Amino acid sequence: MTDPNELVRNAIRSVPDWPKEGVTFRDITPVLQDPRSFRALIDIFVYRYMRQRMDLVAGVDARGFIIGSVLAYELNLGFVPVRKSGKLPFNTVAEEYKLEYGNASVEMHTDAVLPGQRVLLVDDLIATGGTMVAASRLLQRLGANVVEAAAIIDLPDLGGSRLIRDSGLPVFTVCQF
Ligand code: PRP
Ligand code: HPA
Repeated sequence: MTDPNELVRNAIRSVPDWPKEGVTFRDITPVLQDPRSFRALIDIFVYRYMRQRMDLVAGVDARGFIIGSVLAYELNLGFVPVRKSGKLPFNTVAEEYKLEYGNASVEMHTDAVLPGQRVLLVDDLIATGGTMVAASRLLQRLGANVVEAAAIIDLPDLGGSRLIRDSGLPVFTVCQF
């Protein structure tokens, strides 16, 4: 039987020189397209979190929405989006983070979590870790207890997972590149 983590890893497509020369983009769309690898992926997360008490899954715009919402459904939890700025209609809080050039920010609705709720933070990939750290800060500002940051892919050479762990948040990833 194929190891589920290997099944997922083997389904990830590496696209050279995208979005710019020298960058190899790790594309999860083939994982989602194939029912076996999509199920294996979700099951890895379900088995990890089914016995941990959580209240909510928070998914990061945009690919974190896909796995985060399926995972929330399977774990019988609610789902809340962490969005890129300017997308949410109600009252929001924002947290800035650094990009290679300039800044970006993520936003959440002010009523997205209740103080003390245990939240699992989900995205597709950890590169520099800036997005996860900003999302976690945002959740903490709303009073959430962020239990773990989960992603499909870690790019350990970029130091993001270390940065997140150093901020005090445990990290779980399915595979590394
Ligand atoms: C990618 C990825 C993560 C983030 C990781 O999203 O989906 O959210 O970058 O990078 P970091 O660890 O260096 O912060 P991107 O910002 O490209 O947005 P997209 O989902 O809209 O493509
Ligand atoms: N894939 C998806 N998102 C990313 C990547 C990648 O390889 N690198 C930085 N963000």
